[in-house]
Amino acid sequence: MALPLSGVPLVIGHRGASGHRPEHTLASYELAARMGADLIEPDLVPTRDGVLVARHENDITGTTDVAEHPELADRRTTKVVDGTEVTGWFTEDLTLAELKTLRAVERLPRVRPGNTEYDGLFEVPTFAEILALRERLSAELGREVGVYPETKHPSYFAGIGLALEEPLVAALAEHGLNRPDAPVFVQSFELANLADLRHRLGLRTRSIFLLEGSGSPHDPVVAGESLREVVRAGVDGIGPDLTMVLSRRPDGSCGQDTGLVERAHRAGLLVHPWTFRAENTFLLTDFRVGDDPGAHGDLAGQISAFLQVGVDGFFTDHPDVGAAAVQAWEAHTEEQRPNG
Ligand code: G3P
Ligand code: CA
Repeated sequence: MALPLSGVPLVIGHRGASGHRPEHTLASYELAARMGADLIEPDLVPTRDGVLVARHENDITGTTDVAEHPELADRRTTKVVDGTEVTGWFTEDLTLAELKTLRAVERLPRVRPGNTEYDGLFEVPTFAEILALRERLSAELGREVGVYPETKHPSYFAGIGLALEEPLVAALAEHGLNRPDAPVFVQSFELANLADLRHRLGLRTRSIFLLEGSGSPHDPVVAGESLREVVRAGVDGIGPDLTMVLSRRPDGSCGQDTGLVERAHRAGLLVHPWTFRAENTFLLTDFRVGDDPGAHGDLAGQISAFLQVGVDGFFTDHPDVGAAAVQAWEAHTEEQRPNG
């Protein structure tokens, strides 16, 4: 069964169910699918021997116990990645065998202390392991669990001889997923990377161009000028940050519809904004509940505000809340129909 291009908004389990488990672990992805995520989202980076693994960044200092491994102490280094100087341990300096000796830890221990209970339990998964998990869960749950891989720093990795693109397309093909109706979206912040994947390497799945902007009406993407370029690259949609869809007022409350969704739809593009998180500290102030920054607010309410402007799917660390919000939205929409 193919995932629809439009219709019921898609719930994308951001780094799995990262509000409930350390991100980018098989446990996090599995929980996301069981909570109702339509797709699970791995960020992909390579190991020194060219194997794709899931980490938010190639710097794994904050998401693994690497600092507690004296045998890897000499790998700590400083490098410049996409213009930013970073000090730590990097996936591209470790073989897969070395990486597999590490265990994942919670990236946001202060906001998500409950997740630290799982520190030290889970390995860093390979993309192949994630695709195998996807297959097993699809069979068990009786529905296609999709996968939504992001190529992280693709130009940087191509520049050091560890391009992500070939192994990504090969892995999808190996699992029978390199086809237009596969339950797959490939995402990147680099438009040229998505065009290259499609035109040079024969990627046939749908793809999404990620965007980060100010939400200002003068932002060229929000204003619609750059959407033509996105369409020309042959991608299927955009993944804007939340403020590019509904602007944020200076006091942190929900601002106006920027019109981006309508303009993207007119250009034939899907819109999948990121990232919805339940903790007060991440919510627009309108949807906070109480004063504790780590307590959960009304994430479902915030998601509904975005569904109202017509987003086609969304990334969330809390796919349980996301799936419930979509269900409520669909029921509400059904009630509004003339014979509903
Ligand atoms: O991929 C959507 C969202 O995750 C934005 O990118 O990975 O930098 O948080 P990331
Ligand atoms: Ca991502």
